Amino acid sequence: MATAEPLVFNWGVISTGKIAGCFVRDALVDPKTRDVHDIVHKIVAVGSRDVQKAQEFIDREIPGDKSVKAYGSYGEVYTDPNVNAVYIGTPHTYHYENARDAIVAKKHVLCEKPVTSNAAELRSLLKLAKEHNVFFMEAMWTRFQPLVRELKKIAEAGELGEPVVLHADLSGDFDIENIPKTHRILDPHLGGGGLLDLGPYPLVWAIVALYEHPSNKSNRPSHISGSMLKTPLTGVDSSTSFTLTFSEADLHAQAVLSCSINIAPQVPGVTIRYRKGVIYVQPPIYCPTTFSVQYYDKAGTGKVVREEKREANYEGKGWHFQADEVARCVRVGKLESDLWGHDKSLLEMDIFDEVRRQGGYKFPEGVEKVA
Ligand SMILES: NC(=O)c1ccc[n+]([C@@H]2O[C@H](COP(=O)([O-])OP(=O)(O)OC[C@H]3O[C@@H](n4cnc5c(N)ncnc54)[C@H](OP(=O)(O)O)[C@@H]3O)[C@@H](O)[C@H]2O)c1
Repeated sequence: MATAEPLVFNWGVISTGKIAGCFVRDALVDPKTRDVHDIVHKIVAVGSRDVQKAQEFIDREIPGDKSVKAYGSYGEVYTDPNVNAVYIGTPHTYHYENARDAIVAKKHVLCEKPVTSNAAELRSLLKLAKEHNVFFMEAMWTRFQPLVRELKKIAEAGELGEPVVLHADLSGDFDIENIPKTHRILDPHLGGGGLLDLGPYPLVWAIVALYEHPSNKSNRPSHISGSMLKTPLTGVDSSTSFTLTFSEADLHAQAVLSCSINIAPQVPGVTIRYRKGVIYVQPPIYCPTTFSVQYYDKAGTGKVVREEKREANYEGKGWHFQADEVARCVRVGKLESDLWGHDKSLLEMDIFDEVRRQGGYKFPEGVEKVA
């Protein structure tokens, strides 16, 4: 029986930083190695503020492919007719204008996390994407990891009972005393600080395990509480903790989330405590490679009667699964993903706005393009 030819999906990449390189390297991993046979990703254009940087990026990340266009502006990528979708890897505070320009040029968009600086910018983008009939998704790659999908199956099978408390932390030591104050993690003009840079990852676990839990019936948290500790270096948050309470439907659970830019990651990174068991996810929580599940003999005892472990095993570093999702959605004309839809990015940005409000973190004048 003849197999259908895979869809060749053409990406234009905006910016040449660290994460753009990660995305491109993974997009070019042979999809068959992860049992994907319906899609092949191709990078057809790279845009940088400097054409030489674009060419160097191509030579480094896509050696041997002379067909990839190097552009000295982002705009030229948006108007390149060969580009199906644009990947945006610029700092957070540029996402809004980059995505807006790509959408207006009628390109589908995959935009790095956090998707915008605030919820108002995101609402404006979503309206625009709808008007221009283009697909739009935040690059929340964690949601598409095979291990996250596996964890959800186990978590929602019923044997563990209802989730009650989730703890998740993503921290990293950025050596903040010794890096330039213009580094994106420290610079408030680039949306620096723990919440926007690291916060999406503890939050994605609260969304996966609590917001998406069938008992929650898609309700938003009934209460959000946040506290920020600012570094005197630039005034951005060096540590933030925030708590989400889910109590609107049958689910009665809390997420206790944190992130810091000046300590090593917590181990385990995520603990999800159920009435009849617990799941431990080891770092890195944005791309977990292993988790374990402990089952109790019955609710309330904490006596472990069985333990299971799962490990991820695939080629690449994990950024390709979200690329597959984009291509598949675009192929069938979807404007958003079922797994990481607009509602989840909106929830994220509404929570971040609220935590920043409670923590007293205001961006410098002009950073927020839509307020
Ligand atoms: N998914 C993930 O795991 C992950 C991990 C890290 C970061 N991120 C997100 O990805 C985004 C970029 O992070 P990164 O670590 O790749 O940053 P990075 O290495 O500093 O790269 C950012 C790129 O954006 C472009 N850019 C445009 N305007 C800029 C400006 N004013 N200042 C600095 N760069 C500017 C530059 O490319 P050109 O000079 O070529 O234009 C630069 O190389 C952030 O939003 C971050 O939160 C995601």
